[in-house]
Amino acid sequence: MTVAAPALQAPEAASAAQKLLRVSRLTKTYETPQGRIPVLRGVDLALARGESMALMGESGSGKSTLLHLVGGLDAADSGEIVIDGVEVTKLSDGGRAELRRETLAVVFQQFNLIPSLTIRANVAFQARLAGRFDAAWTDELIRRLGLEKLLERYPEQLSGGQQQRAAIGRALAVRPRLLLADEPTGNLDEATADEFMALALDVVAATGCGFLMVTHSERLAAKLQQRVRLSSGVIDAP
Ligand SMILES: Nc1ncnc2c1ncn2[C@@H]1O[C@H](COP(=O)(O)OP(=O)(O)OP(=O)(O)O)[C@@H](O)[C@H]1O
Ligand SMILES: [Mg+2]
Repeated sequence: MTVAAPALQAPEAASAAQKLLRVSRLTKTYETPQGRIPVLRGVDLALARGESMALMGESGSGKSTLLHLVGGLDAADSGEIVIDGVEVTKLSDGGRAELRRETLAVVFQQFNLIPSLTIRANVAFQARLAGRFDAAWTDELIRRLGLEKLLERYPEQLSGGQQQRAAIGRALAVRPRLLLADEPTGNLDEATADEFMALALDVVAATGCGFLMVTHSERLAAKLQQRVRLSSGVIDAP
């Protein structure tokens, strides 16, 4: 009987510790010749394993800035970013590079495929570079994303939607623990964006990774489990 109370507290403590991504009191100001641009003024958010979240907010509100900091592409001024128990904000440049290689994958609005490589080689590229190429998983991704008939083509021979499908295939081929996407559907029409989102959510679910996606579209945001909005440098209360 006397052990009941601590036993009840344990699951809560465990779930807090299991958060895949935790951002706390994050701040970032750009220093420019024209002056200081305070962008993030104390951002807090959390994402669990296998969870998807839409990050919304007006143009210039700092969504890309936040994604860059989470992705270890730039350093914050203060605050904390913890990914899978690793405090990104305390890593060296080398440590952040390793995090990008081992844990994260990023998809941008510009598809960023390598023009001189076939779609097959593009999809495998990052996984091979990271020494994590898995033929069976790559084949499954190719099938789920409907890329089978496009494998020997070059990026310029694909439509925007097809290129974006290849880009997410490349990102997920490494089996990241966290997928970050910055307006991945920004260059796609509505129907293609919907199709892309359905496929993306399918393959994200298959990996069980966390998914943080910047979008301006309420319609697409509604397909994700959580929605947050950046406004005046902080996350609006839901
Ligand atoms: N490298 C930089 N140097 C100086 N200012 C920057 C830099 N990057 C972004 N900014 C400024 O920081 C603010 C936030 O930019 P950010 O790109 O994060 O916005 P965003 O929410 O992604 O906008 P959008 O929806 O248009 O993509 C803007 O005022 C922008 O001009
Ligand atoms: Mg942006």
